[in-house]
Amino acid sequence: MKGMVKLTLLLIVLLIGASALVWTLNVRDETAVDVKDAGETRPVATPANPDLLARGAYLARAGNCMGCHTARGGARYAGGRGIATPFGIVYTSNITPDQASGIGSWSPLHFWRALHNGRSKSGRLLYPAFPYTSYTQVTREDSDALFAYLASQPAVAQPNLLHTLRFPYQSQAALAVWRALYFKPGVYRPDASRSAEWNRGAYLVQGLGHCGACHSARNVLGATEQGPGLAGGLIPMQNWYAPPLASAHQAGVGDWDREQIVSLLKTGISPRASANGPMAEVVLRSTQYLSHEDLSAMAQFLKELPKVKTEPAAPAYTEPSSAAATAAGRGAKLYEQHCEQCHGDKGQGQGQGVFKAYPALAGNRAVTMQSTVNLVQMVLNGGFAPATEANPRPFGMPPFVLVLDNTEVAALLTHIRSAWGNQASAVLPLDVNRIRANQSR
Ligand code: HEC
Ligand code: HEC
Ligand code: HEC
Repeated sequence: MKGMVKLTLLLIVLLIGASALVWTLNVRDETAVDVKDAGETRPVATPANPDLLARGAYLARAGNCMGCHTARGGARYAGGRGIATPFGIVYTSNITPDQASGIGSWSPLHFWRALHNGRSKSGRLLYPAFPYTSYTQVTREDSDALFAYLASQPAVAQPNLLHTLRFPYQSQAALAVWRALYFKPGVYRPDASRSAEWNRGAYLVQGLGHCGACHSARNVLGATEQGPGLAGGLIPMQNWYAPPLASAHQAGVGDWDREQIVSLLKTGISPRASANGPMAEVVLRSTQYLSHEDLSAMAQFLKELPKVKTEPAAPAYTEPSSAAATAAGRGAKLYEQHCEQCHGDKGQGQGQGVFKAYPALAGNRAVTMQSTVNLVQMVLNGGFAPATEANPRPFGMPPFVLVLDNTEVAALLTHIRSAWGNQASAVLPLDVNRIRANQSR
């Protein structure tokens, strides 16, 4: 009996200790908003301060705030867009300066705390579907410029929607534990051994650009891997694979010319690859608006990313099994019928100059990449590179979702992954079905 009491006491003490630790970890690096607030003067952006506004507008592009905080057909920055996560749906907030439903009553410090610490004005912990795990790297100066810009936008009265997260993910306690494990606030610290340009690139890629929100693997609790890995991963719920930016076989750009990387981010196309799916959206809404100087700095940083440690060795090429060979044979006929007119009889693509209107499929890593998720997406749903100022009318690819069944798509992809010198594994009807069955958007 005495033993039980002792044990219970011990457990209680441990529980209190653990809660205190979680609490401490959740408020580390926070500025007390309410104490300091009284004396704080808002950097109100008047027409006399157009520079601050312009800078804020630019930074908002770099962070793609509008992309998430605008519902389809809704008012800019008024929120209400649902972000599907494996734990339920999180709705973006109204960040227009409306007093009641937006952030009109916030001070720059409240705003800074949201961006830097992931905490709302009310003190509520915010869900990391808001990529503050990246934005925490943003400087206070940039945060103030963003705030001034948002404060200059039209106020829209639109109350926030309630998140529909499943138990236990909807609770603040669960989120606090998650944050204690995976979130560490901290402004970007320049690496003195690197050039100013590299540092600028690192700041933009890891901070506002939140490239790692997609290009990092996620664990079962939805946390992105730590470190500069950008090691690639399947984007939850979207069924697009954001390949590792440090792997030459996938999305690495280490051996690209800097201008080719700039071109991809500025125009959506480049002589080496084009931006598709969620990446097309990133170019469309964000990177195309960045200055050449900033894009060039990002390119420099991306070129020098350390190579991924866990790069899977390309699977040794084996002669296709007879089943795969038969599939590839069928695939060749389907290719002739449906694809050749644009991509050429030898997968060579077609078009004038360095930018091929119709990309080559021979020797294209998007075709031979180990993950076949994006390939299946392209064939089922078609695709457009983003329409950018520099490439206003991209050539498009029609969807084949209603034309080809799973077996046909698998045969076709098996063919293009093994023809014209390409050497990649076969695609199974099951791989196609997985994507087709999950067409959530
Ligand atoms: C990937 C999508 C995404 C992007 C990009 C994004 N946000 Fe958000 N943001 C969210 C979500 C989701 C929430 C709601 C989180 C919650 O309620 O827990 C949110 C919440 C916020 C909040 C807190 C609002 C409140 O009422 O508590 C602020 C402030 C905010 N975002 C500002 C920004 C700014 C500034 C940018 C651009 C630098 C930005 N967001 C970019 C998804 C995004
Ligand atoms: C919303 C998710 C998302 C975000 C955010 C994102 N990417 Fe991507 N990215 C993708 C996907 C998916 C692909 C694969 C499809 C493709 O190749 O276009 C990709 C592909 C790429 C490629 C390889 C292109 C190719 O075809 O070889 C590069 C380079 C790249 N991204 C850079 C970036 C940079 C830099 C950022 C930050 C500014 C970024 N991405 C942010 C989803 C994202
Ligand atoms: C009407 C012309 C057209 C037809 C027909 C067509 N494509 Fe495409 N395809 C394109 C264009 C244009 C792009 C580039 C679009 C983009 O980047 O989003 C493209 C892109 C692709 C890509 C991505 C390449 C990359 O570098 O990211 C693949 C894979 C692909 N097509 C395969 C196929 C297959 C398989 C078929 C037959 C089922 C087919 N295409 C039929 C025009 C076409």
